[in-house]
This record gives sequence, C-alpha cells and structure tokens, in this order.
Amino acid sequence: MSETPKNPSPADLDRMSDEELVRLGTELDEVDVKFREARWPEGVETRAEKRAARTVTIWFALSALFGLAFAAVYIFWPWEHKGEGEAGHALYTAYTPLLGLTIGLSILFLGFGAVQFTKKFVPEEISVQTRHDGPSSDVDRRTIVAELNDSWKSSTLGRRKVMGGFLGASVGLIGLSAILPLGGMIKNPWKRGPMTVAGDGTLHTTGWTLASDTRPDGLPPEKVYLGRDTAKVFPDGHPPAGQGRLERIHIDDLSTGALESVFPLPASAIGNFTEDMHSIHGTRNAVMLIRFRPEDAARVIKRKGQENFNYGDLYAFSKICTHLGCPTSLYEQQTHRFLCPCHQSQFDALEYAKPVFGPAARALPQLPIAVDNEGYLVANGDFIEPVGPAFWERRS
Ligand code: FES
Repeated sequence: MSETPKNPSPADLDRMSDEELVRLGTELDEVDVKFREARWPEGVETRAEKRAARTVTIWFALSALFGLAFAAVYIFWPWEHKGEGEAGHALYTAYTPLLGLTIGLSILFLGFGAVQFTKKFVPEEISVQTRHDGPSSDVDRRTIVAELNDSWKSSTLGRRKVMGGFLGASVGLIGLSAILPLGGMIKNPWKRGPMTVAGDGTLHTTGWTLASDTRPDGLPPEKVYLGRDTAKVFPDGHPPAGQGRLERIHIDDLSTGALESVFPLPASAIGNFTEDMHSIHGTRNAVMLIRFRPEDAARVIKRKGQENFNYGDLYAFSKICTHLGCPTSLYEQQTHRFLCPCHQSQFDALEYAKPVFGPAARALPQLPIAVDNEGYLVANGDFIEPVGPAFWERRS
C-alpha cells in the first residue's frame, strides 16, 4: 500500500482508494484508532454468522409486521363510537389499545434488531479524537463520505438484502405511523351520512336540523327540546336504562340575566344516555340560551327575517364562533358581549350577536325557539344559515 500523502491534491484524491481515503480521514481528523476488529472473518460465512443474521432479520421482520398491523388497524378497524350495550362496542373499545400495542411492538422490535445488529455485525472499534472548531474542508468532506461508505461495507448490510429490506420496511412503516394519523383529518365535507343528533356529517347541518321541516333526508321534523347538560356521572360508568344526561329546560328554569349552554334533545331520545353524549359531542350543536333582563330586552335590535326567533326575553345563539369555530362561551353582562377566547372576537348580544370587535365577520346564527304546551323550551325549526366559520359554498 502506498504512503498516504498528508496534503493531497485533487489528483491525489482521485487516485486514492476508499481504504486510503479512510486512513487519510482518520489521520486528518486526529482520530487515533486504538482497536478495530471485524465481528466475523471475511470471505466465509460461518454458521454462527448465519444464525446471527437470521436473528436480526427476524427482529426487523417482526417490527415491519407490527408496523403493517398498525396501519391495517388504523385504516380498517371499526373506530366509530359505539356506546355501552350497542353492537360493536367491544370492537370500538379495542381500537385505541390495539393502535398502541401494534406501534409499541413495532418500535420495540426495531430497537431489539438495531441493538443486535450493532453487537453482531458492526466492527468493534475504539477510537479517540481531539476536538477542534472550524468549517469542514474539501478534504474532510471527501474523506467523511469515504468513511461512511466504509462503514456501510464493513457492516455487511449492503449484501444482506433480506435483512436490509426488512430494516427499510420497518423504518418506513414506523415513519408512516407518524403520518397516518393525519388521515383522520381528511374528510369529504359533502359526504352525507344519516341524519342524527349530531347532524348528517356535512357543514350545513347540526342536531337542530332534526327540527327543520325541510330536513335533508326528507323525513318530517322532530320535536327537539333545548337540553341542559346535567353532567351526570354514574358510579360504574353504566347509566341505568331510561336515564339520560340531558334534561329538558322549563321556561321558568332560567333566571333573569342568566346564560346556559344547551344541546339538541329530540323527544324520541329522552332518557338515552348514548344519544345525549352524541348530541353533546356534535361539533356544531352547542347553543347559548340567554334570558335578558327586562331593561335589556327592551333594547334588543333584531335581525331582519329573525324577528320571531326569540321567545319573550329568551334568545338562543350558536356558541360556535364564526371566525374559526372556538366556543364563544364568555358573556360579559354589563356590556352584553359574547367574547371568543381564541382571537378575542366580540359579539353584541343585544344586536343579534353581530361582531363588534376582532376577526369574526359574521353574526352568531340565532336558533328559533318556542315553548311547548307543557312549558318546555323547544327549537322552532333549524338555524336559517350554517353555523361556525365560513366555507367555500357559504353565501352569507
Ligand atoms: S375563533 Fe373566535 S375569534 Fe377566532
């Protein structure tokens, strides 16, 4: 082997073999290799080496398998909420644990494989390097590439195609697992599902749409009460049959000046805990019911076309901010303003909840309300416009 020049010219560098470049690199980096020994003799593959390769391959294969299982569970497992007693409840409750189990095992087996691979195939080496500052020179860059090539070759991973393939698959699938959950955010906003207490899945409906006489599913309107969330909890998590979480609100229940969040409670679903939870979780369902003081009620300015949406001094406005959809749940009684905590939009409750400050540009939609013959508050139809932020098909 020729002597390694200390200050090689570009022509010298072109002439040098990878081995010479590696040696040059270590010398220039002031790396002192104290000890280096390959794990296995070169040229022959012993039975022990084959056994070691098989073990590492199995770890990587298991990692890839569980990575694949994670993707399959994420895509195909029935994840839609099923309440206690509903068909499919057991499968639904297994969804999250299965995601954790599969991705956890995939990462664990990748770790086992990596540790085993390092112990069994990467040459044993002890080197000492003196640290120094400064940018890398051309020589450094060329030599580091040569060193990396040398590591790749000496690790034998290049010629172990199956092991390398499974390692690549494992790393790729684990990387995929970081991206896959974003898939849950991709939704077809036009896809219409069955009309439920949470709407039909499009941006135009809410649970209150059940009270509309022009329901998108063509069915007749239902009687939908304004439901108060009692936040009832049951000791073992199982509500007794016939017990719900939402309760109807009587016209006398709300004191003057009070505000309360309410949710759609269809008459057919009273006492159904699961339906109540679907209603509370309906992303566009929450409504603020407010009873103005008589002196304030006298100053209310109604929006054109919504003159009969209130019932006396009771008014109901969507709680979903028309800027980006946060809950506008703060009410300042002295100024009669609803405040959205996200970007500080303010809406004037005495003037059909029109925006008076902040980035929101549209009023909070008003829900028409009435009182039934028992004195309970009900929706007198649906909102006449979509609730929440603007979207491409909105005209108002
Ligand atoms: S979401 Fe309400 S102000 Fe931005």
